[in-house]
Amino acid sequence: MGRELAIDLGTANTLVYRQGEGIVFNEPTVVAMNASTGEVEAMGDEAWQMIGGRSGNVVAMRPLRHGVMTEFDITERMIAVVLRRVGASRIPKPRVLVCIPSDSSEVERRAVEEAVRFAGGRSVVLVEEPLAAAIGAGLPIHEPVGNLIIDVGGGTTEMAVVSMGGVVSGRSIKVGGFDFDAAIQEHIRARFGVAIGEKAAEGLKIAIGSAFPSPRNVAATVVGRELATGAPVEVRVAGDELRTAMAEPVARIVEGARRTLAEAPPELTHDVLETGMFLTGGGGLLRGLDMLLAQECEVPVHLTERPLQTVVVGAGAMLEHLDDYRTAFQLVRRRRLGESRWSRVRLG
Ligand SMILES: Nc1ncnc2c1ncn2[C@@H]1O[C@H](COP(=O)(O)OP(=O)(O)OP(=O)(O)O)[C@@H](O)[C@H]1O
Ligand SMILES: [Mg+2]
Repeated sequence: MGRELAIDLGTANTLVYRQGEGIVFNEPTVVAMNASTGEVEAMGDEAWQMIGGRSGNVVAMRPLRHGVMTEFDITERMIAVVLRRVGASRIPKPRVLVCIPSDSSEVERRAVEEAVRFAGGRSVVLVEEPLAAAIGAGLPIHEPVGNLIIDVGGGTTEMAVVSMGGVVSGRSIKVGGFDFDAAIQEHIRARFGVAIGEKAAEGLKIAIGSAFPSPRNVAATVVGRELATGAPVEVRVAGDELRTAMAEPVARIVEGARRTLAEAPPELTHDVLETGMFLTGGGGLLRGLDMLLAQECEVPVHLTERPLQTVVVGAGAMLEHLDDYRTAFQLVRRRRLGESRWSRVRLG
């Protein structure tokens, strides 16, 4: 059995790939904490169930924000739970590859390494998410052609041009599916004076949300709490108004994609104009986002086959072919030493 593991520690979902086996863990990045002791009692699906079944002392929390650990101790304990659940304690000296946002600071990178070591990982290799995503999408990353990958996650959107085994240019913006949900919550509050939960907002988004106008205007109902009275009420919303509500975060992603394309080295832009961009991540499933990107960036857009798994599948492929990807690791390492060709321009 393989002793190597790859982890995609996402803001919304955590996935683990085990060498020779494939995806062995795929659950929400949520922990159930005992409010009085501060102990992490469960994570993932189990954590959700605990919150539902037992109220009182157990609280749910997401230890990552925009792809970055905001609660170090809790994340550390959460990773320990995940590694235990995939049987890592029975692997002698497990080697763990962890995907991180491409704009992670040196401090953030060290924190991830430390957390994984604490949790039982012997040697830790960090790899940038867009590179793993490009591999997971099956792009020819080792060839001297430009591949544009856009990974819309829950808390971040990573965009990068990948070529010759490394990330050539790109950017990471702090916008993702959770921002679409928040925009829906805000809209329902403003229009109806009703508060709805995060999960209800996400449900609406998945059911009738879209980024691109459609001739078929669908509608759905949602239950919330009237702000004025606190009473439960049902409101009916149309797909069109959700599109308008989500327009701002969606536009930031489109703008980021456009700039990534504009800033790519000209010799690679040519390839991208021909082959198009590859859209992945759970947020990439937002209806019509592919069409909007294609229209605004004027390139073909391809949605990857299993957008929620692309990053961990790519990271898993790196485990299976560690030697082939040595160049990629070297690029990552070199970048950490500050010698990179990575040109990053932040959105204002
Ligand atoms: N069918 C769908 N339509 C729209 N959005 C969806 C759909 N399915 C999942 N999502 C959204 O995808 C997001 C999660 O995507 P993903 O698992 O790729 O994020 P993550 O990797 O955990 O986050 P990040 O990469 O930002 O750290 C959530 O916001 C979720 O609502
Ligand atoms: Mg992700």
